[in-house]
Amino acid sequence: MNEQQRKENTQVNPSDKKSDKDYSQYFQAVYMPPSLKDAKKRGKEEVKYDGFSIPEEYRGMGQGKKFYIRTYGCQMNEHDTEVMAGIFMALGYEPTDGVEDANVILLNTCAIRENAENKVFGELGHLKTLKKRRPDLLLGVCGCMSQEESVVNRILKVHPFVDMIFGTHNIHRLPSILHEAYMSKEMVVEVWSKEGDVIENLPKVRKGNIKAWVNIMYGCDKFCTYCIVPYTRGKERSRRPEEIIQEVRHLAAQGYKEITLLGQNVNAYGKDFEDIEYGLANLMDEISKIDISRLRFTTSHPRDFDDHLIEVLAKGGNLLDHIHLPVQSGSSDILKIMARKYSREHYLELVRKIKQAMPNASLTTDIIVGFPNETEEQFEETLSLYREVEFDSAYTFIYSPREGTPAAKMEDNVPMEVKKERLQRLNALVNETSAKKLKEYEGKVVNVLVEGESKNNPEVLAGYTEKSKLVNFKAPKSAIGQIVKVKITKAKTWTLNGEMVEEAVEVN
Ligand code: SAH
Ligand code: SF4
Ligand code: F3S
Repeated sequence: MNEQQRKENTQVNPSDKKSDKDYSQYFQAVYMPPSLKDAKKRGKEEVKYDGFSIPEEYRGMGQGKKFYIRTYGCQMNEHDTEVMAGIFMALGYEPTDGVEDANVILLNTCAIRENAENKVFGELGHLKTLKKRRPDLLLGVCGCMSQEESVVNRILKVHPFVDMIFGTHNIHRLPSILHEAYMSKEMVVEVWSKEGDVIENLPKVRKGNIKAWVNIMYGCDKFCTYCIVPYTRGKERSRRPEEIIQEVRHLAAQGYKEITLLGQNVNAYGKDFEDIEYGLANLMDEISKIDISRLRFTTSHPRDFDDHLIEVLAKGGNLLDHIHLPVQSGSSDILKIMARKYSREHYLELVRKIKQAMPNASLTTDIIVGFPNETEEQFEETLSLYREVEFDSAYTFIYSPREGTPAAKMEDNVPMEVKKERLQRLNALVNETSAKKLKEYEGKVVNVLVEGESKNNPEVLAGYTEKSKLVNFKAPKSAIGQIVKVKITKAKTWTLNGEMVEEAVEVN
């Protein structure tokens, strides 16, 4: 669909659409709701690459106005917020750090689990009062929840005071969506169910000047049966290597110390290129030559994690040997129903290869407990896999059914109390293992990238090791933004205390 067709498509007369009849009073302006069915389709059409610019007529739109974006969800969303902040600033808006004096408020939402969504609906409830007090305030909902039909319908029905809803595929259209919302008294709904082109040259206002995120690809084609992401983020589209390399070079020149390459399934990077054979291993290899102290990526999918990547990572240097490798379950039967496309044995073999090539590598993971019909034995397989791999830490979740996904249709014989009890047992193991791993650091010297003052004590500085362990230690403020050597004096439950032994060991 080209831009012109999209525009035509947005001028739907709501009364033509039977299912929307109830809400037609709310929208006369742009009305383009999402469809999960369309979002599921994976077309063969070629991905186009386009550049971003602010249309002439919208320049200066934000003069004298302030914006505030509240972000929920993963790094992808955090980074989208940086892009939207960049667009706001390019339009002349100023940032503010609270809702009270904001002229535009955006909720950049996450749909991964029900409680993520509940938080947003709760927040909308609070913002209603503010909107009543200040009717000229523009209130928008964007991000992954906007891509869901049921959410858009609920907002139309229960929160009609929202001014605009737009999705993950068209954040570059923010200037025209804002314009539309200012012009119209009706709710502006512009959600593209199918992903658009890859847009380059997006302006970005990054959070901080020490660590930066760089998107390498968008979307996910894995369709794990429990997961909403392939529907909310569209099909896999990789950015061209030269664009990524240029962005990383630019960040290095600006003095950033750590880059995290982002994608929902970074191991699939490059699989959609038709003209070149180029994957994540090639990209990491090339980027590692750039003068940047630390390089990470997230998130990896075990199925596509290949030997070439292990070989490249084993070279070390600025390529960090901390790998986040979500396993989800230790039971091959559950993994099969989850459509993860690997078995327990495959995962363990991959871990063996990684540890062989990088003996000091630290592994972290994501685990879902209480997947439909998970048996006690299958859950215990997860515990035993956890013990076997000895992960440094894990994000653990109770399965949450997501409308439109295959798992949501499965019958489930596991009561919620059992799921909660399994989560507690797993968390006890996770905590115990993490504490044990942290204890091993006592007396050792680690490299810490100093990020700033500790949240609880401004007298103390805080930063992260190469393996993402938080370290608190006393040092002069001049150490902020540097990588320093710290001797660990005490391991606490989640963090480490230490003493700086040498300043700025690496100059970058
Ligand atoms: N792309 C990443 C994960 C993205 S979502 C990957 O595949 O590893 C982050 C984590 O949320 C997942 O790893 C999974 O553990 C969890 N998750 C996703 N959908 C979920 C659901 N429906 N219920 C509970 N947890 C879920
Ligand atoms: Fe979701 Fe699976 Fe894709 Fe990760 S790989 S985003 S869990 S569908
Ligand atoms: Fe949530 Fe969307 Fe990320 S659903 S986890 S914000 S991709």
